[in-house]
Amino acid sequence: MEDRFGHHITYLRVSITDRCNERCQYCMPLEEQDWLAREDLLSYEEILRVVRVGASVGISKVRITGGEPLTRRDAIWFFEELNRIEGIKDIGISTNGTLLEKITPQGITTAQALKNAGVRTVNISLDTLDRRAYAKTTGRDILDKAINGIDTARAAGFEMIKLNTVLMRHHNEHELKDLIKFAGDRELLLRFIELMPVSSTHVLTEENFLPSGEAKKLIEFQLGKLKPRSDFKTNGPSSYYQLPDSDQLIGFIGAMTNLNFCETCNKLRLTSEGQLRPCLGSHLEFDMREVLRNPNMDDNDVAKFFLEVVDRKPQQHEFRDNYQPGRKMVAIGG
Ligand code: 5AD
Ligand code: SF4
Repeated sequence: MEDRFGHHITYLRVSITDRCNERCQYCMPLEEQDWLAREDLLSYEEILRVVRVGASVGISKVRITGGEPLTRRDAIWFFEELNRIEGIKDIGISTNGTLLEKITPQGITTAQALKNAGVRTVNISLDTLDRRAYAKTTGRDILDKAINGIDTARAAGFEMIKLNTVLMRHHNEHELKDLIKFAGDRELLLRFIELMPVSSTHVLTEENFLPSGEAKKLIEFQLGKLKPRSDFKTNGPSSYYQLPDSDQLIGFIGAMTNLNFCETCNKLRLTSEGQLRPCLGSHLEFDMREVLRNPNMDDNDVAKFFLEVVDRKPQQHEFRDNYQPGRKMVAIGG
């Protein structure tokens, strides 16, 4: 699928739940807990149908997000089914990591079960290595679970594990070096993400915003010059750099300050209640659930719906135009 601006769409991010066992300040404020009703959520069967049809129109990569995707019941079964869909070559998960060490009824870790189910890449959120700061940022005092989750994922042997750190001034700007060392020691790919106005919470202020260019300067001041590695690409919009005297790479996801950020966008998002969103930073969303639940509509109509939404994909996000988020991030899925 190609949109009007030459973006080739091959990647679908799917939120399977709006629920989470954490309460990250920039994602889901503590006081807000009006979960979606069960019938409003797409069922696993409905999601699998969307992916099956998506694959027939050119989707080859799927990343499952939440909320926290591992809080949804039978998530492993869902991944196994996803892996059976012809044309889907790459399955990933974005998780806060805290449930990866949990033992499944089969007696293996959740991380191992995911690996066995065909998951190729795992993205784990880690904003800080300080227990108190972690408790403050995520609303839960479970840094140990997140770190055990990371180590459990390493033991499971995924092809790629990435760590995501959301940059926040005063919160973690003094920890960048430690996070780099943590990732380097474990051979994980660390990316620093600029805070985006995707959620209606109090922390999304000018004051808390730390531009990736400034984070890069801070790192260079402490560790030496970073070498751009534009030859290295993952599936997303991150720019990678190599650390001096080391083969470790780190990435920056500068959604706010990188003016070319959207040029190579290849994705669509499906929210947990079945809205297809052509862009994270735009209010446009289209009700796919209605199509899925309409007995007069078949897979051809679902395919047509994909193409229509791709045709409405904006050239770039609207984050720089005084964009006001309309939803919680948990409902959209990272
Ligand atoms: N700005 C930037 N990143 C965010 N994430 C969640 N909310 C925001 C935000 N407001 C990140 C999480 C996770 C990924 C799925 O999205 O840290 O790593
Ligand atoms: Fe949960 Fe991830 Fe949102 Fe944090 S960022 S509240 S871990 S969904």
